[in-house]
Amino acid sequence: MNKGYFISFEGGEAAGKSLQISMLRQYIEKNLETDDFLFVREPGGTPLTEEIRRLLLNYEIDPPLPMTELLLYCAARVEDVQKRILPALEQGKVVIADRFYDSTIAYQGGARGIMSEQGILDLTEMTIGSVKPDLTIYLKVAPEIAIKRKQNLGNLDRIEKEGLDFYKKVQDGYDFISKKESGRFVIIDGTKTPQEISNEIIDILSHKLPQQFKI
Ligand code: TMP
Repeated sequence: MNKGYFISFEGGEAAGKSLQISMLRQYIEKNLETDDFLFVREPGGTPLTEEIRRLLLNYEIDPPLPMTELLLYCAARVEDVQKRILPALEQGKVVIADRFYDSTIAYQGGARGIMSEQGILDLTEMTIGSVKPDLTIYLKVAPEIAIKRKQNLGNLDRIEKEGLDFYKKVQDGYDFISKKESGRFVIIDGTKTPQEISNEIIDILSHKLPQQFKI
């Protein structure tokens, strides 16, 4: 049985997820026992999954077909779960993941429509079993705002370059899973200031984390 605690961060493009994870990391490094926490990101984190990430996001000479894209995200997740997440949870750590299978539901299910959201959930169960986050922090930003934020940045990858319709469908996918598995979701308004959001996240964790990790 897992003794640790599993938190995932989710959001569409430009929701501020990576900034919030780095602010949380700084807070933990300053105030807590860092050995109790493992930060992971999907896809990535191991030599193999960083290669898969490169193939998925920046392999312009031969971009993957939609089904290949879906299976590569799932393959990277199998690696992440078996090699990093489950061992850390079994050691009693708090795992903080920058994206997990909700992203596949939102992007490959909702936005690309490769298969239904339920189909992606079934595929997830086939590939990683019943591993689920205990808590998912979903930073929600209206697609119209997210796309403006992205346009102000240069050097966009294959997925970041998609249009407004794609961003809207990503949100539909998140709406599906955040309703279906509502017990683990906390939805945060991603248009608040970074400091307001960070304070809100620390407050949520102070209530949700098991006693031994109290923030
Ligand atoms: P990141 O930029 O938040 O690190 O995520 C990498 C990109 O990969 C982002 O555009 C979302 C996308 N993605 C999917 O399309 N499906 C997935 O299952 C995951 C984990 C990420």
